[in-house]
Amino acid sequence: MAYWSGGPSGWSNDRGSRNARHADDWVDYYAEIYNWKLISRFFPFIKKHKKRMYFTIISMLIATIAAYLQPFIMGIGVERISDSTKSITEKSSELNIIIILLILTTLITIIAQSFQRYNIGFIGQNILLDLRVNLFKHFNRLSMSFFDKNETGKLVSRATSDVVVLQELMTSGFLNGFGDLFGLLMTIILIFILDPILACVIIATIPILIIIMIFWQQYAAKAFIRVRQAIAIVNGSINDNLSGVKVVQSLNRQNKNLDDFMFVNNRNKNENLSAVKFQAAVIPIIEFLSAVTTILVLLIIAIRTNNQSLNISEALGLATAFTLYIQRFFNPIRDIVMQYTQLQRAMAGAHRVFEILDTEPIIIEDKNPIELKEASRISFDNVSFAYEEEQEVLTKINLNIDKGETLALVGPTGSGKTTIISLLSRLYEVTSGKILINNHEIKKVALQSLRNQIGLVFQEPFLFSGTIYENISFGKKNATDDEVMNVLKSIGGDNFINNLPNGIHTQIAERGQNLSSGERQLISIARALLKNPSVLILDEATANIDQVSELMIQKAIKVALKGRTSIVIAHRISTIELADRIVIIHSGKIEKIGTHEELLKEQNIYSELYKILHSQ
Ligand SMILES: Nc1ncnc2c1ncn2[C@@H]1O[C@H](COP(=O)(O)OP(=O)(O)O)[C@@H](O)[C@H]1O
Ligand SMILES: [Mg+2]
Repeated sequence: MAYWSGGPSGWSNDRGSRNARHADDWVDYYAEIYNWKLISRFFPFIKKHKKRMYFTIISMLIATIAAYLQPFIMGIGVERISDSTKSITEKSSELNIIIILLILTTLITIIAQSFQRYNIGFIGQNILLDLRVNLFKHFNRLSMSFFDKNETGKLVSRATSDVVVLQELMTSGFLNGFGDLFGLLMTIILIFILDPILACVIIATIPILIIIMIFWQQYAAKAFIRVRQAIAIVNGSINDNLSGVKVVQSLNRQNKNLDDFMFVNNRNKNENLSAVKFQAAVIPIIEFLSAVTTILVLLIIAIRTNNQSLNISEALGLATAFTLYIQRFFNPIRDIVMQYTQLQRAMAGAHRVFEILDTEPIIIEDKNPIELKEASRISFDNVSFAYEEEQEVLTKINLNIDKGETLALVGPTGSGKTTIISLLSRLYEVTSGKILINNHEIKKVALQSLRNQIGLVFQEPFLFSGTIYENISFGKKNATDDEVMNVLKSIGGDNFINNLPNGIHTQIAERGQNLSSGERQLISIARALLKNPSVLILDEATANIDQVSELMIQKAIKVALKGRTSIVIAHRISTIELADRIVIIHSGKIEKIGTHEELLKEQNIYSELYKILHSQ
């Protein structure tokens, strides 16, 4: 599991030092091209296509049998035709049979292969579809802490490129490997039937091939890992440069970044070249071995013809059949060398895809969850929390929020305000203590009902691509236009909507860039309110709003808070003043709780903030 603990991610452009350190984590796993345990993980996915799979395997067997019979038939054909003891008419009738047999086997091979290809493609594509859907579902089940540890870019590549490389494994690698193996078996049987002595010559090359393959595999595994790391670093560099393009351009870092990129890109090229070099070296060795075997076989045939243990026509027949079989014998080995990187990449991809699917969410729903009909009273009972072990972010938080009460959380950045509300929505699990809503511990409450009761508005209103309507009705399927419009109206958002060409069905540009910050925030407030949640949480909802919009949002918030139990995190006095009580948080501890008046009477962060703002 080292991979998920922020290990060899490769998403950095620190020239790979971070990746090199984790290189060891990669080695064991990715050295294998056929990891049967991993391959067996696909069986449940294949099961759905059982009939088609049998059909495919039968097609493959038929295609292989027909294809591998051909050298045998050709050998016999050549032998018969060159037999000088036979008359022309005898020969031509035999030749006819041979030709018909060859045409027949070719047709069978072609037809069976196209069945095999289509069906394996069909099964492969369906498995990929299932895998992607499973991944997508699983991503949405996983807990926030998982996403803290895994960058989005990396996860996207899991669901896209890693799944795609699996296609190669399923369409070419997997069944071809099986077909090759079966073909090898057929070759061995047929050459023994043809001539056991010559067959032994071919069999004798097997140990040599095994030695070459072991040697090759060891090297290739390492080369492959270096290639993977190099490309990961290139990706990371592109990723960093794109996501930080504003900073890059404003600081005139373009040239320096290009230098860095050239460096990692060059290294990637060199790693690839050295892997290719070795491949280029191994192929001739195999070709050489194949040539030597052919020469040996022909030599033995010649010797045996000389000492009359074979006649000319037998010799010609055997020579034809064996040259063809030697070709076929070495082909699969050549294929493995040529496709090695693809196979290994597919295995690595499979490993990572299943690793995600195996990751259990930390937040698990109770077996008999309580359905929360309403959430009015909230209490934190001695709640402590740490994102990472031993680094406590919240310490013994005790807090009661009454029905309909508005509570403001005030404190410096990093004091733990956002963490408190994340715990309440159960995006994270408390380390110790309890959070209760209406006297039910939130661990026992059905997750969906808990989150339905809580409306959240963040500092950065996240807008999805789509229309305004789609963005607002995001949490409530089948909401009518009127419902959406009414919510907007209630918070004063109908004005700007009416000025848009298509009203609430206007498309939002990427991340809402065709709207002002205030309008975006109105949309996200409307989204939170549409479900009519009994609890409303605003996390610095006014922090990024321009002066003009502030009044508009302020009004919206006032409406939104009415009749709801609310927690507002804010730096603006105007927002804090809306609260019934104010909680001052410092370094994960509650420093003070009181009303606006009470807190102003003494020295604390709030009274200081208030004084600063009012002295201006
Ligand atoms: N996802 C996270 N993983 C690890 N640490 C975090 C995470 N989110 C916040 N923290 C840390 O927890 C502390 C409290 O953060 P936060 O609750 O966001 O503070 P606030 O909202 O008051 O600014 C900070 O020290 C912050 O670095
Ligand atoms: Mg915060």
